[in-house]
Amino acid sequence: VRVLVLAGGLSYERDVSLRSGRRVLDALRAAGLQADMRDADVALLPALQEDPPDAVVIALHGATGEDGSLRGVLDLCGVPYVGCDARASRLAWDKPSAKAMLREAGIPTPDWVALPHDRFSELGAVAVLDRIADRLGLPLMVKPAQGGSGLGASVVRDEADLPAAMVGCFAYDSTALVERYVAGMDVAVSVVDLGDGPQPLPAVEIVPRNGVYDYAARYTAGLTTWHTPARLDPAVAARVASTALAAHEALGLRDLSRVDLIVDGEGEPHVLEVNVSPGMTETSLLPLAVQAAGLDFGKVLAGLVGRATA
Ligand code: DAL
Ligand code: MG
Repeated sequence: VRVLVLAGGLSYERDVSLRSGRRVLDALRAAGLQADMRDADVALLPALQEDPPDAVVIALHGATGEDGSLRGVLDLCGVPYVGCDARASRLAWDKPSAKAMLREAGIPTPDWVALPHDRFSELGAVAVLDRIADRLGLPLMVKPAQGGSGLGASVVRDEADLPAAMVGCFAYDSTALVERYVAGMDVAVSVVDLGDGPQPLPAVEIVPRNGVYDYAARYTAGLTTWHTPARLDPAVAARVASTALAAHEALGLRDLSRVDLIVDGEGEPHVLEVNVSPGMTETSLLPLAVQAAGLDFGKVLAGLVGRATA
């Protein structure tokens, strides 16, 4: 089986993707598969037509890799790939759409307002922000409606800091997602299908050293501590796992995903988002969860490749 790992791309998460790609490539090779890696650029389409691989593993993050467009190209070329289809990817990538689907399915997700930049300018920033703060309360979480790795995201504890947070967010996307901030434990649950249906792996508890799980905390060794499994009561851990699985299924995902949640003081999980192309770097959470489950990362990937080509 010849596997092509796609990494790089033109998103804000290009560097992260290259790190994910290298780790995936090494793990596939260690598992005995013939694997190569290449960028997702304009030459990809002819390359896929001339020498189609047996399967693609998408290690692209952000636009292209995660928004469904690349998956559409692979569908066009008839090349199988690991992960969900283009439609589910596009839906999960757009946080307001994904949250609406989750809410529809009865899965708790913090209340939110999606605010396009045009609307923000037209109505006057102060009036809009007043209304949002009234409706959702403080603190708030502001993040790009489409984005990842914490880029453009910030917590707003004081209403006076909201305009700056919005400007920071609009640098990354033309629509902002303003969410009620839920205090609690940050956890990530990776969901992997090893052939018997999707299974939640042990939850990873995330404790950033400076209190904020931003880009640096995500990708700099030593800036975040993890507890795997998360330090939760068994009943709460079970609820977290079943909520993550329900989110994966509600969004129509397949093969693998990582569901990010907050567990509040009452032990209630709230889904923040679901990643269809989760980070696979040395400091990323899915590989950590695979290890904590006593599984081999390369063998898990090889199993997913096997399913894609079956
Ligand atoms: N967006 C990054 C890669 C993640 O979710 O892991
Ligand atoms: Mg994400």
